[in-house]
Amino acid sequence: MDTRPIALFDSGSGGLSIWKSIVSLLPLESTVYMGDHRYIPYSTKNVEFIQRRGKCAIQFLISRKAKIIVVACNTATVAGIDYFRKIFPDIPIVGVVPVIKTAAKMSQKKKFGVLSTERTAKSDYQKKLIRTFASDCEVYPVGNTQLVSLIENGEKDSVRVVELLEKLLNPLCKKDVDVLVLGCTHFPFLRTQIQKIIGKSVLILDSGDAVAMQVKRILEHENLLSDNQKPTHQFFTTGNPAKVRDVISRLLERGIVVKTVPDSVQ
Ligand code: DGL
Repeated sequence: MDTRPIALFDSGSGGLSIWKSIVSLLPLESTVYMGDHRYIPYSTKNVEFIQRRGKCAIQFLISRKAKIIVVACNTATVAGIDYFRKIFPDIPIVGVVPVIKTAAKMSQKKKFGVLSTERTAKSDYQKKLIRTFASDCEVYPVGNTQLVSLIENGEKDSVRVVELLEKLLNPLCKKDVDVLVLGCTHFPFLRTQIQKIIGKSVLILDSGDAVAMQVKRILEHENLLSDNQKPTHQFFTTGNPAKVRDVISRLLERGIVVKTVPDSVQ
């Protein structure tokens, strides 16, 4: 048994959608979460920058005694997962990518959309997933990063969010897709609005449960599961802790404490 925490990081608060799935599947596990709010969004930065920030985040999480790292950000995963695994060979690292394979299987009409940040939408990583697993489907990638900023502003159903979602999703409605993949960990927090706009009949898929299952499999296999009846959950940010606390508390619908990371991680 190993009571060290599962560690997650994201450019901001979106990784908490993955955190929720992990905590619900593995309720005896402690967690430590780092949001790199100071540098959000990652999507507009170059690959080297994202890799540098990811390295910093992982070093910090290892210093907090992490037993496994979850890169709870599609953009950081497509930009850096191979690099992270290479420079940290001694700790398991799980990434988050859009669930293209599942979408291809679930889509009856063989037509689906993928909503992500621009960087993920344009990435070779996503293109390869589509080529490999969805060659028999029409796939419509939609990239938008402004939604990330709105969510970090605490907006889940504001007029701005609804108008932007309508603009992004109406073309997919016209294409008659029957599945929509959420390829950014921020977007599950907009699920209700997205479902309203895209229609009840469209199946919305995110990566949360698949990632949580993968974490569980690795912990089981490596004999790292915890039996702690009183697990703890710690939240850190490189941004303004009071602002981040308000946003996260709203997203998770529970009060939490957010601490600042040490200067070396800034
Ligand atoms: N949550 C991140 C993702 O899954 C947002 C990326 C960003 O900061 O651009 O891609």
